[in-house]
Amino acid sequence: MKGVVLAGGMGTRLRPLTRVTNKHLLPVYDKPMIFYPIQTLVDAGITEIMLVTGGNNAGEFLRLIGNGEEFGLEHMNYAYQKTEGGIAHALRLARHFVGNDKVAVILGDNFVQGSVRKAVQDFMEQPRGAKIFLKEVPNPQEFGVAVLDGDKVVRIIEKPQVPPSNLAVIGIYLYDSAVFEICETLVPSDRGELEITDVNNEYIRRGVMTYEVIDGWWADCGSFEALLRSNLLVARERGVDV
Ligand code: G1P
Repeated sequence: MKGVVLAGGMGTRLRPLTRVTNKHLLPVYDKPMIFYPIQTLVDAGITEIMLVTGGNNAGEFLRLIGNGEEFGLEHMNYAYQKTEGGIAHALRLARHFVGNDKVAVILGDNFVQGSVRKAVQDFMEQPRGAKIFLKEVPNPQEFGVAVLDGDKVVRIIEKPQVPPSNLAVIGIYLYDSAVFEICETLVPSDRGELEITDVNNEYIRRGVMTYEVIDGWWADCGSFEALLRSNLLVARERGVDV
């Protein structure tokens, strides 16, 4: 299974922190943000990884991560996103890298406390389709939100004003290679992006979506509050008294 880390975007909600650098290069406790999702993939047993980024700071990722030695990798793959277009738009750039393999996609600003190794192994056994991860949150309206019917996820609604549940869809997605064909059928959302939620809803429509509710904390860094929270969670995890 291949891994793709998505680290593009303008980080507009974090300006002025992101005026001169990419969001994913900002510090989270004692490491640059991007180190954590790469480590999550490596910990899940994934060693063939592509990082997709863009903008003026794209070259900094090469200097920072190099060939991935720090993560025990032999090689690191990169793709350059020329224009902004959303998560599914960025993912399309990994098509040739993934080929007919399965792929674990992780957003470069997402943190999980636990390991997704078991879920990744389960997904290897899943003949086709996709798997998403859910987490109960107090502020579901800020995320993609899952609608469950019994043990099935029947729909995902992106940032609903009235959330149908408190289960946020976190930024780690497991897909078969059909994901690239699905990405080609998408149309931009109201915010002008190709939405990963539309990809997931297509897998649900095809009846091949599974999910898992994660244990342990989950955080992203989409806002100042979320960034601060991620810093505190990671520091406390290391036993720092903050
Ligand atoms: C994206 C997804 C959303 C998901 C979130 C997780 O939101 O669209 O469904 O819950 O990541 O971090 P965005 O950060 O693009 O607003």
